[in-house]
Amino acid sequence: MKVLVVGSGGREHALAWKLLRSPQVKQVYCAPGNGGTAILERCQNLPLSVEDFAGISEFARSHNIDLVVVGPEVPLALGITDNLQRLGIKVFGPTRAGAQIEASKAWAKALMQEAKIPTAKAAVFHHATAAKDYVNAQGAPIVVKADGLAAGKGVTVAETIAQAHKAIDAIFQGQFGKDEFVVIEECLTGQEASVLALTDGLTIRPLLPAQDHKRIGEGDTGENTGGMGVYAPTPVVTSELMVEIEAKVLQPAIATLKQKGIDYRGVLYAGLMIAPDGNFKVLEFNCRFGDPETQAILPLLETPLAELLLACVEQRLEQMPPIAWKSGASACVVLAAGGYPGSYEKGKVISGIDAAEALGANVFHAGTKLIQANEQNKLTTSHSPLATQLVTNGGRVLGVTGIGKNFEQAIALAYRGVDCIQFEKMYYRRDIGYRVKSKAVNF
Ligand code: AMP
Ligand code: GLY
Repeated sequence: MKVLVVGSGGREHALAWKLLRSPQVKQVYCAPGNGGTAILERCQNLPLSVEDFAGISEFARSHNIDLVVVGPEVPLALGITDNLQRLGIKVFGPTRAGAQIEASKAWAKALMQEAKIPTAKAAVFHHATAAKDYVNAQGAPIVVKADGLAAGKGVTVAETIAQAHKAIDAIFQGQFGKDEFVVIEECLTGQEASVLALTDGLTIRPLLPAQDHKRIGEGDTGENTGGMGVYAPTPVVTSELMVEIEAKVLQPAIATLKQKGIDYRGVLYAGLMIAPDGNFKVLEFNCRFGDPETQAILPLLETPLAELLLACVEQRLEQMPPIAWKSGASACVVLAAGGYPGSYEKGKVISGIDAAEALGANVFHAGTKLIQANEQNKLTTSHSPLATQLVTNGGRVLGVTGIGKNFEQAIALAYRGVDCIQFEKMYYRRDIGYRVKSKAVNF
């Protein structure tokens, strides 16, 4: 089987790596991939952007690709699945209609209300004045969300009414694209958890629940990022809670999508806020695998990933045996470029990955690329495998995952791996998994 993975982050490296461990997968291509997928055995990067649907379709058709797996939300929201399906190519990832569950917060909110899914009380506004009047009436803290995709930057948890007003102005002034709506939402407290499930549009199979650290600073402080570290299976989602989440969130969401005529085959990712009493509400839905959740979840997966994804695409998930997992726990520490999530430099030479892997850690690349050092020692991009060097090429550079009998061991292994790796101005949080670190209980 030949699989084409669309995307270039740590999530896509983890997907490519795990797909290659499925016995039926002979070759993986990544469009465009990164430095990690470039050196992965039986994996080849393609110089195609995730939005180059014509190029991706042409490659998939001419190379008889058996399955396309779409990583990021942007191509899904733009209809990559619809495009490929029209050519008879199998795709894991929802159609444009299904991707609205992530691409429009107002649409997702309406779906949740229709499906009676527990979620924060919210209202949608088309004009700044009406939105501000509503904020004034509700008071702070309050959450202001841009409707569309904003790469994690469209949400403001406003502590004051003034902050909420500022966020509303920013949205209507088009700072997050051409949004015509704003969603104003009740502010929830508790612990956040990510529950990802595979679905073929009829059946749902949840993956291990994960918890990520979104803030840049230790103690979960400072600016929001794409995610600085993650662990699974998070004990905050107990098995009883998982049953409830399946019944009250995942099943009704899929049933309502189906009622709307949307055939949703891919990942349904529920971002939840769990209160100390175990009550939970949905903060958001995503239409794809989480990043970095995938880098912590997939190393624990025993069932061949390709079988599961193909079963979703071919709508026979119900016939699959239960998903098998390794016992134990997993933790992933993200290594970022100094300055991230603000501005940062690229092109820093990375060393020590082999040493980290020799200890048993999995190093997933995100913002990296392979370049060739020429005679003058200037660095130029090259496809030659000779004299290559790995350099940083993004904000989140690597994700180092450790697995172990319990969280203590998993976290310790991830950090031993981190200790081997170096690049100039490398930054990471030293407290990933602090909530579960002392949980030495074996799973
Ligand atoms: P979202 O993209 O909707 O998940 O929002 C991004 C982040 O904003 C979430 O991971 C939460 O940390 C925070 N957030 C979103 N909605 C709420 C809410 N209703 N109450 C408190 N925090 C929220
Ligand atoms: N880790 C959060 C996300 O993938 O949206």
